[in-house]
Amino acid sequence: MEPTPNFDILPRHIGIIMDGNGRWAKKRGLNRFEGHKQGAKVFKTISDYALQLGIECVTFYAFSTENWKRPETEVNAIMDLFREYLFEAEEPQYKEKNARLHFIGSRDGVPEDIVQLMKNVEEDTKNNTGTIVNIAINYGGRDEILKSVKAIAKKVENGEIKADDITNDDITSNLYPSSSLDADLIIRPSGEYRLSNFLLWQSAYSEFWFADVLWPDFTIEDFNRALNDYANRNRRFGGV
Ligand code: FPP
Repeated sequence: MEPTPNFDILPRHIGIIMDGNGRWAKKRGLNRFEGHKQGAKVFKTISDYALQLGIECVTFYAFSTENWKRPETEVNAIMDLFREYLFEAEEPQYKEKNARLHFIGSRDGVPEDIVQLMKNVEEDTKNNTGTIVNIAINYGGRDEILKSVKAIAKKVENGEIKADDITNDDITSNLYPSSSLDADLIIRPSGEYRLSNFLLWQSAYSEFWFADVLWPDFTIEDFNRALNDYANRNRRFGGV
């Protein structure tokens, strides 16, 4: 029998590293693109389920600031998947899902039509009241912290605040607003045990959940397992 999540204790913010698409495809003798395509389907299943559970915020790592190093054909194929999903999210029935879609990451270098679609979808879903679904595209945790530091430095330069008065809250409040909440749980499938520049500031006290399953094979049962484990963790935040 599958474990049932303890719905009394749900994470407020979950970060998910969608890893293993390439290996999933290779195992089947398919092009890596087929792995990303299947990964996009799983993204939709899990984001819908998070909405159904009433989770406040889920951040999916879709494309990092380092992923531009991949062959152009693969980058283009991933961009096409974003386009496909963004067109789908523009459909009126999508809005009825009640999720609030946000895109975190730098928009520099992202194709202009995709940036426009992102803006439309954010605008279309901004009055929804359900789960915030963040899709991290051209995102890097260091890049996000650097942006925050620069914004604060400007305030210091203008004499709005004193350097000595800078607080943790100042750094948090200058991150991407939709993902600045501390990440309670970070899920990484595919058997890798690293953070890969994801939600660096937000993960100071995150609980981590790793599994050998490749992202395209990740199921609602796996997600439930992660939630169940999370509900049984003893979080002390440095206290006793
Ligand atoms: C990491 O697996 C995956 C990516 C860099 C791309 C993730 C993108 C998707 C799942 C598509 C998302 C689409 C939408 C609509 C949000 P990998 O390629 O590094 O896998 P590997 O480690 O097995 O090679």
